Amino acid sequence: MEKQKFDGYADKYDEWFMKNENLFTSELRLFKKVLGDISGKTLLSVGCGSGLFESYIENSNIEGIEPSADMAEIARKRGINVIKIGLIEDVELTDDKYDIIYFNGSSSYMEDLSPVYGKCLKALKENGKLILLDVPKESAFGFMYLLGKSLNTYDHEFLEGAMPELPYPLALATSGVWHTTEEKINVLKNLGINKFSYYQTLIKNPLYTNEEAEEVSEGYKSGGYVAIIAEK
Ligand SMILES: C[S@@+](CC[C@H](N)C(=O)[O-])C[C@H]1O[C@@H](n2cnc3c(N)ncnc32)[C@H](O)[C@@H]1O
Repeated sequence: MEKQKFDGYADKYDEWFMKNENLFTSELRLFKKVLGDISGKTLLSVGCGSGLFESYIENSNIEGIEPSADMAEIARKRGINVIKIGLIEDVELTDDKYDIIYFNGSSSYMEDLSPVYGKCLKALKENGKLILLDVPKESAFGFMYLLGKSLNTYDHEFLEGAMPELPYPLALATSGVWHTTEEKINVLKNLGINKFSYYQTLIKNPLYTNEEAEEVSEGYKSGGYVAIIAEK
């Protein structure tokens, strides 16, 4: 199989979150808030990675799709039912099956969101939720990753004193396709969705994000990690 963006990064990815414990707690609070009570529900995590976030919740009813075999292997050990090691673009989903389909960080590695979100909306039950959580392109984190991507380093004199101690691995910032929140909202509107709600965290500048865990707030215009909840 072709090499995937996260192949070889499974340990580094988890390690980065474990070292940035407060940042992780903030994102985990957002994740838990937007998933809500999942008991009795059918869920699909698109790009489930290593199942790190899911390992902090009851996850026996979560299916996953993940292209990177080493990430998927860890996710399976953490209780995710990985139904396919592959790209969402290549998977056939059953119509009207899921209560919730979510992308935690994974939209940022996909070029063309419309066919992917369209496929997932079909696989949702009526009133089901498509939940998109990620770093908005327009946020301070988005700018930082795009700068890293264009310079191919974070180690630049212009960034001196402005970077967090342990920035997200450069290779993962570089392979990202960073989308704005409004771009994703518009994709969903064009697919016929008109019921939305939004939550955010990582409001502080990246330099200070890991000082303490943040609370979740409503909206999408300030956060470095934002959730769009779209109802079918
Ligand atoms: C930032 S990681 C998030 C992993 C996990 N959801 C989490 O929150 O820890 C992005 C994940 O999306 C996966 N991914 C990238 N492109 C994908 C695609 N086209 N279809 C499905 N998953 C994809 C990557 O392999 C990676 O595991």
